[in-house]
Amino acid sequence: MINLYFLTLFPAIIDEYFSESIMKRALEDNIIRIHSINIRDFANNKHNRVDDYPYGGGAGMVMQAPPIIRAIKSIEHYQEIPIIFLTPSGTTFNTKECQKLTLKLKACKSIIFLCGHYEGVDQRVIDRYVTDEYSIGDYVLTGGELPALVLADSIIRHIQGVLGNAGSLTEESFESNLLEYPQYTRPQKVEDMSVPEVLLSGNHAQIKKWRKAKSLEITQEKRPDLLKKEK
Ligand code: ADE
Repeated sequence: MINLYFLTLFPAIIDEYFSESIMKRALEDNIIRIHSINIRDFANNKHNRVDDYPYGGGAGMVMQAPPIIRAIKSIEHYQEIPIIFLTPSGTTFNTKECQKLTLKLKACKSIIFLCGHYEGVDQRVIDRYVTDEYSIGDYVLTGGELPALVLADSIIRHIQGVLGNAGSLTEESFESNLLEYPQYTRPQKVEDMSVPEVLLSGNHAQIKKWRKAKSLEITQEKRPDLLKKEK
């Protein structure tokens, strides 16, 4: 059983994501367990306040350290678990980073995602407790929940038993640094468009060759930078 902890002000966003499709099944099959922890529950003041004005002035509010630290410490063995902070200033997440995190998760069976909001999180939480900082791209979102779910989803699908067909992992984009070949399904005719003849041929060697060629062609056209990495 893999434990995923999300420290957030909006636990409903996290719970909603795990209530459908493959993630729902992974929960039902007891492969993963989701703990969406509301930082506000650790506020210990009358108005459940968790943010305050930044020292030195400036726009926006900053999430205070004490409630977040108490939330972290509510997790058993938190010292032995990677604590991932989602921030635009983190390492850009990609398939290589995903593999690294998946290995860590397989080793310690737990991972903690800290989702920030407002203008930021008191730096002292990051300095003392966070083990890794990740960004999902060069744009700014309103909170860390979506990035945390992006990381969680891409990691969870590498856990044994989550995907029905293990082959779908090795064949897909980025695992081989090539983009995926196009897929077709019934009906055979859509408006005036047909399915490439070779896919109907039943000749598996030819199909494999065609798919590899298509992958290369599409990667060359859309992401030539990936081919450079391949070499
Ligand atoms: N929080 C806000 N924007 C983000 C991004 N692009 N990646 C990770 N965390 C974020």
